[in-house]
Amino acid sequence: MEILGNFAVFEGGDGSGTSTQLALLKDKFAARRRKPPPFFPTAEPAEGPIGRIIRSALKNNPVLQPDTLARLFAADRGEHLYASDGIVERCKRGELVICDRYVLSSLVYQGIECGEDLPRSLNSAFPAPELLLFFDIDPQIAQERLHSRPSLEIYEHLEFQKKVRKHYHALLGEYRDAGVRVEIIDAAQSVEKAAAEVWSYVSQMPILR
Ligand code: TMP
Repeated sequence: MEILGNFAVFEGGDGSGTSTQLALLKDKFAARRRKPPPFFPTAEPAEGPIGRIIRSALKNNPVLQPDTLARLFAADRGEHLYASDGIVERCKRGELVICDRYVLSSLVYQGIECGEDLPRSLNSAFPAPELLLFFDIDPQIAQERLHSRPSLEIYEHLEFQKKVRKHYHALLGEYRDAGVRVEIIDAAQSVEKAAAEVWSYVSQMPILR
């Protein structure tokens, strides 16, 4: 597994708070007195045309086959990584890129839906991040957080999220073995405490030392 320096990802089940934490990190960087390096927070599905189709399909409009979604997530990722001004270009020119969800989301979610072979082969050529933070939370608690949202997406139900958590735990070791720094954040603690933990790991990345 090739590791892309200056690249970190947040992973976790739905309702684990990864987007909130990335937004807090963005504020922290904006307020930082020591300015460089440039910080590029981003997320998958990404904002381009493929990501937009995925976002609609997550609301079941259109209803897509699980294999089609697996292919779309991988195509979206390929653009996100390799387009001009994409993740790879930014990391290589010395920016810190942190992405809310990445390959492991596909191995977990599409692994549950399609079996592990398809998402693995679709994602096998993509580089691994230097740091992976896994936001761990009891799916029951996460589900209570999600219920305040106006509508739920296709994966946001308890039975599926229980499988998601199990699959994440089963796959984290592979990343560790491949040389990725993997850390588990207790996502049930307060937002502030989780943010402090996130910073303790992100600030140790070589680009920030
Ligand atoms: P979000 O709720 O974090 O914005 O993510 C959107 C949903 O898409 C979430 O349920 C996880 C799912 N997802 C996959 O199934 N496979 C993937 O590769 C990615 C990036 C997200």
